[in-house]
Amino acid sequence: MQRLVIFGATGDLAERMLMPSLYFLEADRLLPPELKILGVARSPMDRGAYLQRVKALLDARTEGLDASVWDRFAERLDYHPADVTKAEGLADLAEMLGGASAIYYLALSPSLYGSVCAALDKAGLACGDCRIVVEKPIGHDLLSSRKINAEVAQVFEESRVFRVDHYLGKETVQNLVALRFANTFFEPLWNNLAIDHVQVTVAETDGVGDRWPYYDEFGALRDMVQNHMLQLLCLIAMEPPADAGADSVRDEKVKVLKSLRPFSRTSVQQLSVRGQYRGGVVAGKTVAAYEAEKGGPSETETFVALRADIDNWRWAGVPFYLRTGKRLPERKTQIVIQFKPLPHSIFGEVAQQDLTANRLVIDLQPKEDISLLLMNRKTGMSGTRLQALPLSLSLDAGGRRRIAYERLLLDVLAGNPALFVRRDEVELAWSWIDGVAHAWSDAGLPPKPYAAGSWGPAGAFALLERSGRQWLDE
Ligand code: BG6
Repeated sequence: MQRLVIFGATGDLAERMLMPSLYFLEADRLLPPELKILGVARSPMDRGAYLQRVKALLDARTEGLDASVWDRFAERLDYHPADVTKAEGLADLAEMLGGASAIYYLALSPSLYGSVCAALDKAGLACGDCRIVVEKPIGHDLLSSRKINAEVAQVFEESRVFRVDHYLGKETVQNLVALRFANTFFEPLWNNLAIDHVQVTVAETDGVGDRWPYYDEFGALRDMVQNHMLQLLCLIAMEPPADAGADSVRDEKVKVLKSLRPFSRTSVQQLSVRGQYRGGVVAGKTVAAYEAEKGGPSETETFVALRADIDNWRWAGVPFYLRTGKRLPERKTQIVIQFKPLPHSIFGEVAQQDLTANRLVIDLQPKEDISLLLMNRKTGMSGTRLQALPLSLSLDAGGRRRIAYERLLLDVLAGNPALFVRRDEVELAWSWIDGVAHAWSDAGLPPKPYAAGSWGPAGAFALLERSGRQWLDE
């Protein structure tokens, strides 16, 4: 029998993401028939009360629970109250599991990972082919991330550690790999001979709200760039792996991370922008400033734009512009591959004005779409006029869009690590991010204010304009 044990079962991650994902997998009959799911948290509660709690949250999430799916799902569920940071707290759990190997999902603060692993070990719960699933942020910088990884590694060897970056579970992110490596015509152009630059935008309309105690310590650089955005950058920039196996892909991502050019105190002022939202209007609603949400002054950035350079043969001279922020005008995750302009136009001056360089746009959310901007001749008799023709492959198959965690949970259950982040990836990403953060503090760069509902501080536009480029969405 397979057991999934969720520590932190009454917390936000478990209730907002894990339980709904497991329920949807149940609805599609994708869960292994033998799987049992055990929620563990400090709150004293019996199984009946836990089932009621889970039922209520799924009711709200699914707009109408399917009774037969719920019955099947409830059969799998159980609850156990425990302080999982202490081996004594886990003694009963050891008895419940009766020596069966389990998957422990640590939906807990990363500061507890070390003590929970030690407690699992002491309680004899870490043996056999048990696996552990952990979430970002693994640390706050390289040093703290190494410490957490080392504490986990004392109990679980790397092949049993599944580090979640939920972006890797998104269908469209996996499509990006298919687009690159299941087609022949992109790869010969996927380099600095044909590509002018790349833009990656992860824009959110939400503010930080009551997450500020976490967010204020991390900011946009550590919350989004260190993980999700660098993962996207790696998948865009990596060399073709030998196969789709976990280590082949992760080896290639590691090479990209090693090639990222570090920032200096001078370059960081030219090549990056920090921002923090003030009050403003988003989607017609007046919203408060970040500092008002926090209730005090803050030097934390809620917006980052930067130019990353990958110093290798393929990408030398091709800037990767990364931009992410809260309280931006729209929710959008988008990758733009901007190709170089024509080396020479044969179309004369009039048509010249209409010429736009080819562009591949990959929309990850909210719409899922890949479009290729091609030039075409406008119909008509008065000379040659050109127009841009977007060739669009909408990926929206209709129906419910899967939660990224559904894919990831299935892979954990199957023991497939391909969509999880290896320890060296996490540490290399931190090492580069530490460089950015240190350069910011050496240069004394406070976040610049921007109005909620705008695309960030003016410097974010200047970042591209300096080289005659612009963000391709406004
Ligand atoms: C999380 C960040 O990892 O990703 C949040 O902590 C952010 O601040 C979220 O809002 C964005 O994820 P998604 O899937 O909604 O784009």
